[in-house]
Amino acid sequence: MTQYRAPRGTRDLLPPDGPRWQRLTDVARDLARRYGYRAIETPLFEHTAVFERGVGEATDIVEKELFRVSARSEEAESWALRPEATAGIVRGYIQHGMHAWHQPVKLSLIGPMFRYDRPQAGRYRQFWQWDVEAIGDGGPAIDGEIVELGARFYAEVGLAGVEVRLNSIGDPACRPAFVARLVDYFRGHEASLPALERRRLDTNPLRILDSKDPALAPLIAAAPTIADHLCEACADHLAAVRAHLDVLGVPYRLDWRIVRGLDYYTRTAFEYHVPGREGQQQALGGGGRYDGLAELLGGRPTPGIGFALGLDRVILALEESGAEPREEQGPLAVVVGADPDDTATRLRLATDLRADGIAASADLGRRRLGRQLEGAVRQDSHFAVIVGDELTDGNVQLRDLLAGTQKLVPLADLAAHLRRADSSHHHGGESR
Ligand code: HAM
Repeated sequence: MTQYRAPRGTRDLLPPDGPRWQRLTDVARDLARRYGYRAIETPLFEHTAVFERGVGEATDIVEKELFRVSARSEEAESWALRPEATAGIVRGYIQHGMHAWHQPVKLSLIGPMFRYDRPQAGRYRQFWQWDVEAIGDGGPAIDGEIVELGARFYAEVGLAGVEVRLNSIGDPACRPAFVARLVDYFRGHEASLPALERRRLDTNPLRILDSKDPALAPLIAAAPTIADHLCEACADHLAAVRAHLDVLGVPYRLDWRIVRGLDYYTRTAFEYHVPGREGQQQALGGGGRYDGLAELLGGRPTPGIGFALGLDRVILALEESGAEPREEQGPLAVVVGADPDDTATRLRLATDLRADGIAASADLGRRRLGRQLEGAVRQDSHFAVIVGDELTDGNVQLRDLLAGTQKLVPLADLAAHLRRADSSHHHGGESR
């Protein structure tokens, strides 16, 4: 028999991982609520064209990393698992006529994304993003709101010192001239370019600036910078975004090498990084403005800006920083009994407690009381409800497994008793 394993680049999230994930998604949902970003869900797969047109055919994400879904023979359509959320969300904005809603439409999505990348630490084939979009506002104030929102997420989950890196990558008025200058510059050094970067000269020259190849660092450092080539409108936009970040007290670093790996960006581009960490290329999150995306997908011209934060990388960074995970929560009580075969009574008592809102388990194995009690301890239960002869008088023994004490409690008072104990004792460290 084959040993089946989770596919390469994917992971199982097991119950002990739960509290940490729960905490991240709680913070994300709560921030979305406070900032007025409403939940949206889009399909995990879309027409391939949504990504090809939206994200860009010459990007790594589409060209190399798209998980294509093989179509059934009778279907002419071509599908792909979503590598990111923005293209699908903007597709939804157009499809559902959201331009008629109050603008901007502010949306939030938490879910898995798929990229057929080479797996390594912090790089998975299925990973989770918190994605936020504000569609229908040309900025610059909303740019400030979005950048600050991402920074606040890291602070609230307990990741200190995350650095905001900000850039403008211009717009269709000024970027073409800059890209032409960049291509000229790199053509002059073509011999020293690796094959991949040489190919990018034709397909996606901006990405050369983003190269992680140390041998290219001096060449890139001396390359022309977009900052010197922004048109007046883009320069004004960047200055105004900066002014808003200053008012909000968000520190940031200008970094003209932030070009982002997706084609849809215009003007504001930003990333969140853990400074001084190995593998600097691994951003914790990133985003930017995409004023041309709705048109690319067949909608009317609609500005937009958003970010996606990589939740897997936030977990890794939290683990590296030594931040304590929230403790896992065991049941408040496990119902055990002297008669191994009387599973029905144990299950009934646990069911009654659950109906009363209490986290209760029943030991449903037919084993000796001693083993059942050991099981309750292994589950980190605070109490064991012990069913014995006392039940004929309507009583059970309640053992406090933490304190090592035990007393007789009328069945009628059991739930109230447990609830009182639960509120006086911070059971399982449920704290926020
Ligand atoms: P992105 O930079 O491609 O942007 O991804 C955002 C974040 O997702 C990254 O910074 C990283 O934390 C995480 N991430 C990306 N790929 C992986 C992977 N293979 N394994 C683990 N984590 C990964 C976008 O996706 C844009 N849609 C962001 C955006 C929203 N722009 C405007 N609105």
